[in-house]
Amino acid sequence: MNKDKIAEIKQWDAEHVIYPWKTQGWYRPILMERAEGIHMHDAEGKRYIDFCSGLLNINIGHGNKHVLDAMKAQMDKLCYVASVFATEPKAKLARMISEVTPGDLDYVFFTNAGAEAVENAIKAVRWFTGRQKIYSNWRGYHGATSGAITLTGDPRRIPCEPGIPGAGKFFGPYCYRCPFGYKDEKSCGIQCLETLKTQIMLEGPKTIAGIFMEPIVGTNGIIIPPVEFMKGVRKLCDEHGILLVMDEVMAGWGRSGTWFGFEHFGIVPDIITAAKGLTSGYVQLGVMIWSKKLWDFFKDKPFISGLTYYGHALACAAGVANLEVYKSEGLIEKSRINGDYLNNKLWSLYERHPSIGDVRCKGLWACLELVADRKTREPLAGYADAKRNVMGEFTKRLLEMGLWAFAKWDYIFLAPPLIITPEQIDEAVAILDKALEYPDSLLKG
Ligand SMILES: Cc1ncc(COP(=O)(O)O)c(C=O)c1O
Repeated sequence: MNKDKIAEIKQWDAEHVIYPWKTQGWYRPILMERAEGIHMHDAEGKRYIDFCSGLLNINIGHGNKHVLDAMKAQMDKLCYVASVFATEPKAKLARMISEVTPGDLDYVFFTNAGAEAVENAIKAVRWFTGRQKIYSNWRGYHGATSGAITLTGDPRRIPCEPGIPGAGKFFGPYCYRCPFGYKDEKSCGIQCLETLKTQIMLEGPKTIAGIFMEPIVGTNGIIIPPVEFMKGVRKLCDEHGILLVMDEVMAGWGRSGTWFGFEHFGIVPDIITAAKGLTSGYVQLGVMIWSKKLWDFFKDKPFISGLTYYGHALACAAGVANLEVYKSEGLIEKSRINGDYLNNKLWSLYERHPSIGDVRCKGLWACLELVADRKTREPLAGYADAKRNVMGEFTKRLLEMGLWAFAKWDYIFLAPPLIITPEQIDEAVAILDKALEYPDSLLKG
């Protein structure tokens, strides 16, 4: 793109576009023009490794020809019809999803994206149980719409309070910073479970409709819970008739090395919410997946929900083609194998960079947690770092060196497209290695 054109577009952008999550006055984004595979290219021709799969959604990589061809073929036939009609891609995608979900999680409600899947799950658990309260993890994120942000525990919730009524929070295991002071993971998991049991007992178990959880916490730092905790929560739900909703929006579709994150723990939820990697962002699409008991419940009454675009034919065609790519390219297995490779590389960064306090990785889904002091585990930046803006500065440095990774609070998220090769991981880790000199330089003494 020539310089004048770039300047003109940037001016329109600065004068008219409202950016999500950003302070509008000073935010000046890079102008991206095209992308293929694991790479993005800006309007000036600079190449970036997309080491975060966009916003952890472009699991199959950019510009996949099989998906683009399927979308073009669908566009020639039909982009959209009213959601009351059936279409081939909608039926086919629901069928394909039911084949990769365990148990009787076979019933698919299509939404536009992840937060809306969560909104619909809130309705479903309330109507199914006739109860109102919803529990969720303090260290958890479920989206930015009103119900989903209320279930979110992290500070993104605060400006949106009071939110929807009936939402309670619990401390899920965060073994690196165990909320109950335990040093080993099993004890941390067991204590978190015991505390949750007590909370539920005091709350009145028959007043709680659902527990919403990410199987592995995503944007609050890739926190992998001990299996005892996960199994215990499942049991607790069964004992009290509480529905367990697994929010797989980020963990799902191979990100953690299995189709869904909960598979690591040998449990099956009652409802799954998912989005992101379902279409890898080629068109937006989310799903709420019901087990049979919910299907049976709603068989003789309407599920009062739906937006104009639910079950969008083009989005569903993108979903069908994505699932075909996951299978034909063996991406779930690649995530597991190359995830182990990435994990080893990140632990070698830990050896060299004292600002890294912890490395957490599952599949091609990793987080470096930065600290001011490894011994005390004092956070380097924390939640309110507007002044020093460590992660803003860090991201700027990464982008200058041609790497995109999402970084906020004390977390650097590394989640490349599942098609990445070990050589490409090496290239990205070399850039990270250089950029980490900056947080190292901030350490005391
Ligand atoms: C676990 C989880 N749930 C829900 C959402 C919201 O999804 P969306 O932004 O597609 O609405 C996200 C987004 O990152 C997420 O990570």
